[in-house]
Amino acid sequence: MKRIGILTSGGDAAGMNAAVRAIARSAMNAGLEAYGINYGYKGLVEGNIFKMESTKLDEIVNRGGTILYSARYPEFAEKETQLKGIEVLNKFGIEALVVIGGDGSYHGAEKLTMHGFNSIGVPGTIDNDIPGTDFTIGFDTAANVATEALDRINDTATSHQRVFVVEVMGRGAGDIALWSGIAAAADAIVIPEREYDIEAIANKLTENRKNGKDHGLIVVAEGVMTAAEFKEKLDQYGDFDSRAVTLAHVQRGGVPTTKDRVLAARLGDYAIQLLLEGKGGLAIGIHDNKLVATDIIDTLENHKHQTDVSLLDLNDRIRF
Ligand code: ADP
Ligand code: F6P
Repeated sequence: MKRIGILTSGGDAAGMNAAVRAIARSAMNAGLEAYGINYGYKGLVEGNIFKMESTKLDEIVNRGGTILYSARYPEFAEKETQLKGIEVLNKFGIEALVVIGGDGSYHGAEKLTMHGFNSIGVPGTIDNDIPGTDFTIGFDTAANVATEALDRINDTATSHQRVFVVEVMGRGAGDIALWSGIAAAADAIVIPEREYDIEAIANKLTENRKNGKDHGLIVVAEGVMTAAEFKEKLDQYGDFDSRAVTLAHVQRGGVPTTKDRVLAARLGDYAIQLLLEGKGGLAIGIHDNKLVATDIIDTLENHKHQTDVSLLDLNDRIRF
């Protein structure tokens, strides 16, 4: 193998650039050529592809977003478009593709693998919702951004004795809500993975007021409902002078944490080591702090990311 391609796809995540650097540098240091593909699968099909240079890579390690850009390109779910993508890869002499992205992007890599093109998925999404890994690149940064925002909201909630309902991202997963909620001492964390009871949450807030805590913080994962919807329901059970806040895309940007950069370095390099060993068609990840590689088709078809819902019980034991 002489030439590999790298693309980023789906929602961008802090640390994607650190992964691009690790993949490209590791490949180049092993004597391979690395080709960057702009705009995800869209750029792949359109042949928006360039040879990467080693000198330009170190300066991207601390940058948020993705220098390879991203795109939502639903057309790639069609077989015809996937085959066109393979045609383009062949034209550029690219023999293996490393895809950094989330669940949807992994499905693209899975399809290419099914058509016989060697593809490897590197988990990059703030949602932490990919099977085959405990953590995805970008999750730590997003959770830290959310925690910092919640801390700020706690300040004003305390000053005005208000209850804030804060919606965080995560698509169908509650990981960002769980981690930031625990970190910011939330009174309630509402995630898609567990039933919730708004009346019980409201009663707890009322009880808290009687017992000396006159403000509150509820973190709601977007996969459950919006902050505005939750607030409306909550207000039916009492006067909390509540406010609804949606953190939205602020969680996606910014300087990646050290943890995300190191994870990106480990996973990016691992993808290349596996390719050099002649392996492929894999989803790579980290499990119990060890790098792991699983068959991408089996991983996507038969496994689901497991959110650690025990963290919710932990929060119940340590909250006010
Ligand atoms: P993420 O990768 O963050 O989950 P998306 O779900 O938007 O983001 O997926 C990113 C891209 O991956 C899509 O725009 C599309 O190009 C490609 N993709 C998604 N689902 C599939 C699929 N089932 N088959 C092939 N490609 C897919
Ligand atoms: O997958 C990452 C993510 O930020 C999700 O948390 C969120 O649901 C979605 O992407 C938002 O998508 P868009 O950028 O298209 O608004």
